Amino acid sequence: MWTQLRRWSAQPSTWREFPLTDHASAKIELLPVTGLPEFRPGDDLTGAIVTAAPWLRSGDVVVVTSKAFSKVEGRLVRVPSDPEARDAARRELIEQESVRVVARISRTLITENRLGIVQAAAGIDASNVRHDEVALLPADPDASALALRNGLRERLGVEVAVVVTDTMGRAWRVGQTDTAIGASGLRVLHGYAGQIDVQGNELAVTQVAVADELAAAADLVKGKLGGVPVAVVRGLDIVDDGSCARDLIRSGEVDLFRLGTNESIAQGRREAVPNRRSVRQFSEEPVDPAALRRAVASALTAPAPHHTHPVRFLWLRDHGLRRKLLDAMREAWQADLAGDGFTPEQIAKRLSRGDILYRAPELVIPFLVPEGAHTYRDERRNGHEHTMFTVAAGAAVQGLLVALAAEDLGSCWIGSTIFAADLVRSTLGLDEQWEPLGSVAIGYPAGDPPPARGPLTTGEGLIEL
Ligand SMILES: Cc1cc2nc3c(=O)[nH]c(=O)nc-3n(C[C@H](O)[C@H](O)[C@H](O)COP(=O)(O)O)c2cc1C
Repeated sequence: MWTQLRRWSAQPSTWREFPLTDHASAKIELLPVTGLPEFRPGDDLTGAIVTAAPWLRSGDVVVVTSKAFSKVEGRLVRVPSDPEARDAARRELIEQESVRVVARISRTLITENRLGIVQAAAGIDASNVRHDEVALLPADPDASALALRNGLRERLGVEVAVVVTDTMGRAWRVGQTDTAIGASGLRVLHGYAGQIDVQGNELAVTQVAVADELAAAADLVKGKLGGVPVAVVRGLDIVDDGSCARDLIRSGEVDLFRLGTNESIAQGRREAVPNRRSVRQFSEEPVDPAALRRAVASALTAPAPHHTHPVRFLWLRDHGLRRKLLDAMREAWQADLAGDGFTPEQIAKRLSRGDILYRAPELVIPFLVPEGAHTYRDERRNGHEHTMFTVAAGAAVQGLLVALAAEDLGSCWIGSTIFAADLVRSTLGLDEQWEPLGSVAIGYPAGDPPPARGPLTTGEGLIEL
């Protein structure tokens, strides 16, 4: 509907006329179509509506419960009458009709069907059908709507719009409403982008789902118990823009809630370990100390022998001390490389690999502290005990990297302190028992973080005997 609206224009002290299209009408009527028979497969739905509602007019919207189409289109499935067997059969059908489980809440399955419709139990319904039957949704409700529209034009000479409805729950809202799952002959979405309201505000994002509003309105006269599967909405200004109910489905990247909460958590857990990648370029953004502490606390839950805590994470926050340590390590490494006979260029290239430890916003040095390790009579077992503590400390370091990644913090485990243990201890004033296990460079990734690897196939990494 076109309404002339006066509002202030950009020029001071002048009024201009702005056109406004609104999806609302001054008045509509909701007319139940009574006297329809109980439909069975193969029945002529169009003929039944023609007989029951010869009063249809062009411009009417004929709103039909999808179950009427399910019945005449043979989408009824026989199931056992026994409640338990019937439930099992229904679950099998839900699986068959769904392409994806969106959420599993207790015994309720929210799934996406082949048409992209997300709803409980794939829309499979046991209400208003015989006890030994359930109704699947129509295979293509938009096509069903178009066929009925064409049929009514042929038989009554009227140009109507058709909406096919199903009753659905809504996320975050209690209770169900009727929704359009099929539509033909109307603009299913009324966009307000660029239009101006009476107060002069521009409506940037409002898009009214007119087909859904029609479905819900018609339910007020159709109901659920009275055997009235069809209603007519009269008085709306209908525009046929060729759209259909499929246009109301949020899909792919515009689906903000692709998964249910439980499913998101489960996926996050599954992907936590493979999502960690070594990050070697960091942004300037300071690391949130609370996030780092949380990650360390997670890491300290790693398994360890004899109920000990064989790992300590030293967060080297004093940048002067960090530089002093790294400079000393660099010098020692340089001497080793010169002794190996490398050229000055080769040495410089190798030393530059340690630059990340200077650059990283934060540095954490993990230490093995084998307190609580058993002492044996022989060196063989003492050596094994030491290995056991070392692997436990390594597990904690991996835990730290994974926990950091879960906090959106990038990290890279750098081995060099392992080769400079005495120097690390003397520079930092640590006890002889403390064995550095490399260091962890930490910061928010610069640019795009390295691509998540996703779970690898077990390949040669798993030997099953
Ligand atoms: C004990 C240890 C020492 C490492 N030392 C270095 C290092 O000195 N420099 C470096 O760039 N990466 C180092 N890494 C990281 C590996 O290069 C890295 O984990 C490997 O390339 C796999 O890549 P990803 O971590 O992204 O999966 C070290 C990793 C471990 C476990």
